[in-house]
Amino acid sequence: MAAQGAVLGLESSCDETAAAVLAGDGTVLAEAVLSQEQEHARFGGVVPELAARAHLRHLPRLARAVMDRAGLAPGDLAAVAATSGPGLIGGLIVGASFGKGIAIARGVPFVAVNHLEAHALTVRLPGLIEGGAPEFPYLLLLVSGGHCQCVAVEEVGRYRRLGTTLDDAVGEAFDKVAKLLGLPWPGGPHLERLAARGDPARFALPRPLLGRPGCDFSFSGLKTAVAQLVARGAAADARGKADLAASFQAAVAEVLADRAAHALAMLPEARALVVAGGVAANAAVRAALAAQAEAAHGGRKVRLVAPPLRLCTDNAVMVAWAGIERLRLGLADPLDHAPRPRWPLDEMRGRGGAEAGRDAARPPGLRRR
Ligand code: KG4
Ligand code: ZN
Repeated sequence: MAAQGAVLGLESSCDETAAAVLAGDGTVLAEAVLSQEQEHARFGGVVPELAARAHLRHLPRLARAVMDRAGLAPGDLAAVAATSGPGLIGGLIVGASFGKGIAIARGVPFVAVNHLEAHALTVRLPGLIEGGAPEFPYLLLLVSGGHCQCVAVEEVGRYRRLGTTLDDAVGEAFDKVAKLLGLPWPGGPHLERLAARGDPARFALPRPLLGRPGCDFSFSGLKTAVAQLVARGAAADARGKADLAASFQAAVAEVLADRAAHALAMLPEARALVVAGGVAANAAVRAALAAQAEAAHGGRKVRLVAPPLRLCTDNAVMVAWAGIERLRLGLADPLDHAPRPRWPLDEMRGRGGAEAGRDAARPPGLRRR
């Protein structure tokens, strides 16, 4: 068994409870994801306190299950990596504390993983992407229920946020519009199915910030436009609902492609557009991004890179992998690292950071600030 340098990854920042064990070379030995969708559906969104309790209930069991499946005992672990932000503080505390407990018990390093960094580095998992992992720097378009941003991924630990949403995250916009159309939560996938039967040209919805300088996003005006149409009876019948869904989806896809094009112009060295997050599951969005990547960008070729769906949405494989990437640079974290509900990628410590240098000079594991 290729368990050399095995790292346990834990994810609990939102409403997925996940655990995974990877060998030090990135081979996935076992993984498990438990969605809490059922627990939150009747509230129409994630209830933070319920999420934290569910993580507490399920995470130890999932961690044990992946260790068993990988054929590993706790003593075989070389490190533990747990998502420590950004996200819902209750869940972050559960995952980080559980991870630190194992690290203390086994005397191995602990890595406090930034959830956004984990999404950003997923495509570097060995053997994952056909044609090879993209070279640095690449552009990350993160489109999920909680995040919508363009990030320049320059190296492990060095990121520049080029643009972000001024109001709703794009997945949130999908969910709110789906709700207006009477679909269950989370509405993105339901809306996509409904849109497949609709006419995307029926309603001329706004394209917020389209063509504007920079690569920020805004979705609340688009959502309001749909709400006003619904109030005027546009979604009274099945035809209207499907046409509204299709029109909304087309507007979002067009805006995302436009913002990605602007972001690519802001990062002229990038040769890859990497998309991640639940909304990357949407075929219309993917098609628009693929077309945008193919278009000429100052004569350079850009390829669209998307992790397989199970690694686009929240999972622990990406957390363990980000842990491995950081450990390779000597970037373990002290056990008093406090989970951070807000943790912008620009504030990451990288190889060159003063903090990184200070920590890297000490043996990994039981470091103290
Ligand atoms: O990345 P994710 O699983 O969780 C986080 O938010 O971190 O993303 C979930 C979001 C939800 O808003 C969901 O409605 C949206 O991604 N989503 C979709 C699709 N599948 C999931 N949105 C549009 N089309 C889809 N096929
Ligand atoms: Zn995520």
